[in-house]
Amino acid sequence: GKSGMADHASKHTLNIAHRGASGYAPENTMAAFDKALEMKADYIEIDIQLSRDGEVVLMHDAMVDRTTDGSGRIDAFTLEELKQLDAGSWFGPQYAGEQIPTLEEILDAYRGKTGILIEIKNPSQHPGIEERLAAALEERSMDKPNNGKIIVQSFDHGSIEYFNELLPNVTTGVLVGYDAEGISDEQLAQFSTYADYVNPNHQMVDENLVSQIHHHGMKIAPYTINDQSRINELMDYGVDGIISDYPDLVGHNSALH
Ligand code: G3P
Ligand code: CA
Repeated sequence: GKSGMADHASKHTLNIAHRGASGYAPENTMAAFDKALEMKADYIEIDIQLSRDGEVVLMHDAMVDRTTDGSGRIDAFTLEELKQLDAGSWFGPQYAGEQIPTLEEILDAYRGKTGILIEIKNPSQHPGIEERLAAALEERSMDKPNNGKIIVQSFDHGSIEYFNELLPNVTTGVLVGYDAEGISDEQLAQFSTYADYVNPNHQMVDENLVSQIHHHGMKIAPYTINDQSRINELMDYGVDGIISDYPDLVGHNSALH
């Protein structure tokens, strides 16, 4: 029934597929992104790093070992060498032959079909990655206001502050790791000078933090929630997005469940 519906109850909470639908298919591959679209995700989340020859590629870890059949640091490989790795078999034999995608391949394949939440991973290890990302977006005119659902985020807040100077029209976010102290109003005031989203570890999110972030004029999309009751609880708190490995749990919601 509709009685007792809270004010936020009809708002849509963004369904953000973490590394793609990574609960069902190998993370940061086209298989996982296609699965996310099938499951009606509003955004796919991707992790970007640089190859040895300066190409922007998708990978979460600093090493290729966990998610490919290769071994070593990602930035020890050229793009051509990375393309020869199998990024799917580790997850299941049906994914054999999945390749490590480049950022440009992902922008070209998914723009207009889904939003893309781009995490700049360990930017201090990848000098120039902000410029490379900015150039890829600019070449496609994805750097305009209301650019069509691109969000750029990082745990490295200096990197986001810098990226925001390069492309001020692109939506940005700061990632915040778990801290029992929460986030101070001073920090939030600082974030709001260059970021549109504050995306914390969900374990530090309560109703108070959600309203604190909203009070500073920003949005919140916590990570990574794979439990249905916790997803429902966070929606009740009024979060703006949910980052999950299982986009079918978040669904095509209107914050009613
Ligand atoms: O999008 C937020 C989340 O992806 C951050 O943590 O380690 O999964 O990249 P991690
Ligand atoms: Ca990530």
